[in-house]
Amino acid sequence: MLLRMVTALMIVAGTAPAQEANIDNGRDTYLYFCAECHGKDAAGIGPIAEMLAFEPPELIGLSERNNGIFPTLYVATQIDGRARSVGHGDMPIFGWSLDSEKQVPIKLENGQILMVTQHLLELLAYLESIQVKPSK
Ligand code: HEC
Repeated sequence: MLLRMVTALMIVAGTAPAQEANIDNGRDTYLYFCAECHGKDAAGIGPIAEMLAFEPPELIGLSERNNGIFPTLYVATQIDGRARSVGHGDMPIFGWSLDSEKQVPIKLENGQILMVTQHLLELLAYLESIQVKPSK
């Protein structure tokens, strides 16, 4: 199972040199922009969660809910707003994640390449690193 997590991490780090996906930076970004709603530990109970019409989903079970595969494309496009499939926009769209400067390629779970900013790359790497291990 650990091996599976490591493999998954490498997929996000994928085509970019490993040191570019700085998970600590991703964690800082998460705590700054996301923790208020999704919780410091990403368990879905941040301080302002109660004020929202939709409860923010916890973000540590994204892989578990996707057959053990971190849904990179889904998560990336939920954050940058390219695709919003749940609820109707209680969650803000994070413009910085679409900033056209310094785009880096990441390899998606289906093998395709998606261009994302450094910030988003690191945030994705962080989120992937905190996924609970699939129970099976
Ligand atoms: C203002 C509160 C708020 C903030 C801030 C916020 N979110 Fe959300 N998020 C939500 C809500 C509420 C949903 C449920 C869908 C909706 O209403 O848009 C959601 C949905 C999601 C989903 C889809 C999860 C699933 O299981 O389908 C992801 C991934 C996500 N957020 C990641 C993030 C990340 C990463 C950040 C920081 C960059 C962030 N969110 C910031 C409230 C927030």
